[in-house]
Amino acid sequence: MAVRRARGKAESAMSTHPAPNSLSSSRNTILTFKRMKKKGEKFSMLTCYDSTMATIFDEAGIPMLLVGDSAGNTFLGEVNTIPVTVDEIIILSRSVVRGSSRALVVADLPFGSFELSPEQALATGIRMLKEAGVHAVKIEGGAKIAPQLSRLVQAGIPVMGHLGLTPQSVNTLGGFRVQGRGDAGDQIKADARALQDAGAFALVLELVPAQLAAEIAQELSIPVIGIGAGNQVDGQVLVWTDVLGVTAVPPKLARKYLELRSEILSALREWNQDVVTGEFPSEKESFN
Ligand code: KIV
Repeated sequence: MAVRRARGKAESAMSTHPAPNSLSSSRNTILTFKRMKKKGEKFSMLTCYDSTMATIFDEAGIPMLLVGDSAGNTFLGEVNTIPVTVDEIIILSRSVVRGSSRALVVADLPFGSFELSPEQALATGIRMLKEAGVHAVKIEGGAKIAPQLSRLVQAGIPVMGHLGLTPQSVNTLGGFRVQGRGDAGDQIKADARALQDAGAFALVLELVPAQLAAEIAQELSIPVIGIGAGNQVDGQVLVWTDVLGVTAVPPKLARKYLELRSEILSALREWNQDVVTGEFPSEKESFN
């Protein structure tokens, strides 16, 4: 009887766990990155917007995937991230979660989906976890959005902060330019502390002087992930189309590890030519 009761308990505990494709036992969690920071181990994060690429990035061992609102410019043909909607991020994120089994998947809260109030932020965060199955969200902004951040964390939603160049504020920043030079660095430091105090599990620093980023990473106990922020930080994030050479003109902060754009162009030109000349399909690719 006691054994049956104990087994029943274990079974019901298992059944309350999330679906395997959402947070399987081998999937990284926010604790993975907390431990890495403690041990001084660096890690990468890559943007991802679909399940096909997610399977590849996961197999390559990228430990954290970001469904960034950079999808606006890189995938949806927008001029910047501002028009990106919650519904769009949810569709892309669900796809990335399905395609990955090891990476922690973080989704951006798009412009207009959290600024009004902590309740608005929470409602969006809940949709991201329930409908997309992501494991954390990212939110742009400093101390002003700390109430939103802590509301999400209190509800059980891990949150990553984002300071420096925050693309959703491109209109007030006056363009995509380096932030935090000179005295402006003090504001970014104060914001970084405020986000950590509000409960952020990690922080992205975009396009800030390397020295400033190094000082913030040194001071904070949470991992600091840089993009155009030098290498004295805990992690590095890039947009995948920049890393793999799909972007026609990648930004200075990125390094190209592949010339995928030209590879695709020559492959597709060849296939197109084969179709036109009747070379494709051959007998091998046909059925009797
Ligand atoms: O939207 C995005 O892809 C980002 C990264 C560049 C940090 O915010």
